[in-house]
Amino acid sequence: MKITLIHGQNHKGSTYHIARMTAEKISNNINEFFLPRDFDEGCLGCGVCLNEGRDCCPHSEKVTPILNSMLSSDLIIIGSPTYVFEMTSHLKGFFEHISTAWIGHRPEAAMFSKAAVVISTVAIIGVGNVTNSLSRQMFYLGVPKVHKLQFPVMATSWDGVQNKTKDKITVQTDKIARKIVSSKGYATPGIKTRFIFLMLRMFHKNNDLPLFATDKKYWIEKKWLDKARPWKHL
Ligand SMILES: Cc1cc2nc3c(=O)[nH]c(=O)nc-3n(C[C@H](O)[C@H](O)[C@H](O)COP(=O)(O)O)c2cc1C
Repeated sequence: MKITLIHGQNHKGSTYHIARMTAEKISNNINEFFLPRDFDEGCLGCGVCLNEGRDCCPHSEKVTPILNSMLSSDLIIIGSPTYVFEMTSHLKGFFEHISTAWIGHRPEAAMFSKAAVVISTVAIIGVGNVTNSLSRQMFYLGVPKVHKLQFPVMATSWDGVQNKTKDKITVQTDKIARKIVSSKGYATPGIKTRFIFLMLRMFHKNNDLPLFATDKKYWIEKKWLDKARPWKHL
């Protein structure tokens, strides 16, 4: 099973160790990225990706290898420490750059069969916001199955994490790894994705707003305004 592992931080603290151990329990075919080392931009707000395409983004050379790795993987694992109740700014910047691959814009068919694991650690409070936020990103990119791992570790480094917390982490990462290995990472879209897709199909059929012209063209090319669905060929 091929895994894309994205760390929302450069350093190797608790979040790194948990994300890495989860990936290693599932497969040794791991393509790993660290942000900001491998991507360090915030969105410029130029709108070029929306109007002309992601390839025209001034940062596309840096974004594309990470997105392509996600697309060619069976499983996506994303980790972020909790910073002021949010994911890291580097990770948020990355998601801004691939927002045109959201289901309402120009989703990638390959996303609709993948599973993801989203991981965050926190000293005390706010971790649920981060895993919910990461999970939302995965959902709107089309990923049908998202597993959440979140741990209050009462520490600012992996060495500072108590052994009983590390034991809990081992149990939970084992459990998720077993689930993913037994399903071979394969997943299919649920009712919420199918419903949103139908709503968007109606929206694109009935709208000719310039703001969505590039999206509509894409949906027409994919035949999604007719009978085709992004997951039908999978
Ligand atoms: C900039 C920054 C913001 C943080 N914000 C929070 C927070 O909102 N809530 C909290 O309980 N801990 C917070 N922490 C602590 C980290 O979430 C916690 O130590 C986490 O486990 C660090 O993960 P790491 O070891 O992978 O770096 C913050 C730490 C930093 C550096």
